[in-house]
Amino acid sequence: MEFNGILVVSYIIATILFILALGGLSHQETARRGNWYGIVGMAIALAATIWGIVTQAYVELVVALLIGATIGLIAARRVQMTQMPELVAILHSLVGVAAVAVGFANFLDPGRLAHYQGIDLTIHDIETYLGILIGAVTFSGSVIAFGKLSGKITSKPLVLPARHWLNLILLLVVIYYGYQFVVQSPTGTAEIPAGWLPLIIMTALSLLFGIHMVMAIGGADMPVVVSMLNSYSGWAASATGFMLGNDLLIVTGALVGSSGAILSYIMCRAMNRKFLAVIAGGFGTSEGTQLAGTEDQGEVQPIDSDETAALLADAKEVMIIPGYGMAVAQAQHIVHELTQVLRDKKVNVRFGIHPVAGRMPGHMNVLLAEAKVPYDIVFEMDEVNEDFPEVDVSIVIGANDIVNPSALEEPEGPIGGMPVLECWKGKTTIVLKRSMATGYAGVQNPLFFKENTRMLFGDAKDSLEAVFKAL
Ligand code: TAP
Repeated sequence: MEFNGILVVSYIIATILFILALGGLSHQETARRGNWYGIVGMAIALAATIWGIVTQAYVELVVALLIGATIGLIAARRVQMTQMPELVAILHSLVGVAAVAVGFANFLDPGRLAHYQGIDLTIHDIETYLGILIGAVTFSGSVIAFGKLSGKITSKPLVLPARHWLNLILLLVVIYYGYQFVVQSPTGTAEIPAGWLPLIIMTALSLLFGIHMVMAIGGADMPVVVSMLNSYSGWAASATGFMLGNDLLIVTGALVGSSGAILSYIMCRAMNRKFLAVIAGGFGTSEGTQLAGTEDQGEVQPIDSDETAALLADAKEVMIIPGYGMAVAQAQHIVHELTQVLRDKKVNVRFGIHPVAGRMPGHMNVLLAEAKVPYDIVFEMDEVNEDFPEVDVSIVIGANDIVNPSALEEPEGPIGGMPVLECWKGKTTIVLKRSMATGYAGVQNPLFFKENTRMLFGDAKDSLEAVFKAL
């Protein structure tokens, strides 16, 4: 009894720490502290669960923990910053698989029918059914997201004919089998549980649904999918909590589920996608639109590092727009050094950060913070987008889609309607990239062909080092 009290108190403390962690992670200045809250909360939660709930099989548990922790450590150490979304996606799939495993273990538990009767059994069965359903969708969806993000599966959307009808039919069939499961389950015995057929059919259908949902989504919309799967993995954990009667898991899952949903919503707004369409899957593909290839849009005007340095030295207002290429080139440190030199010359340097620049939420902010760029010159897109007419030089470092004017000019295009940093309204834009290749969404960028745009070709880090020397 006394120990139960300690368990409850530990769980409450862990919950509070998780909430503080989320609060901390919402600002760059407090993110590090937020991470620590999360780590301590999780350590308390694990310790309390192991000592308070587990009563047997300690050896197996410790072995499993050690294996899991080792794999996690190795994976996290090896993964490059640019591969982070893939790691997150594959980790979500593990939450999904855990929910499915717990669901089946629950179903096969010989004590289930003795423990629960009547309405209690029905509620328990619905929990099991929903837990497996959400877990299976999360699992297969995350595996496909991992494949797409790592380039193992094409990022082009797979659009089946009448896919919304297909999804609707799947949903109705799953509801039907849910009913069958709840009806058949009480007729089983401790040795031979009943209702396994509806459960297995539903699991297979949910796996298919997860695959179909993510396959239907085009490359440019992947960030929303990752945060949406993050949300799903939270609900899967929450469902597992219900199945196991574990309050902490329910609360933690709900925290992850709702924060993932809020993040998805914010990202949808940033990319001008409809949140409900995302939840339903198969969005952002606007059938019939061709991915604009690399069609010729005119001549581009190259520039070299000396001319770039001269333009920067003469400028009063400079806006730096980092994108995925800055992460690839690991150019954040030289960017910081360049910023310092310009600021010493009394140039007003600001950073304009697009909400989906790079390959994960906050990607650019993390890199700039790592390079110790002061927070007070790093601005969100909405804070600086009006200011471009006053900007003398914008430097676009390895960014492409997020500065693509066709997002505004071609509403029906693949990135149509996505808000972008309107740097072409400034005096001069210098774009740093290696070639004329397209960005993530695979669309050509008319910005490169504008009269006031200059292209500084080469690896972003090499180019910036040359500019730095020239300055
Ligand atoms: P992108 O549109 O992907 O463009 C990146 C550009 O960087 C490419 O055009 C590439 O051109 C250039 N580049 C690559 N390596 C480089 C290097 N070493 N040096 C210089 N340039 C280099 O990136 P973005 O503008 O940041 O836009 C992000 C895109 O990713 C959006 O479409 C967004 O929807 C999507 N996305 C975002 C997320 C999140 S949450 N942020 C997640 C998944 C997808 P070259 O090959 O010619 O060098």
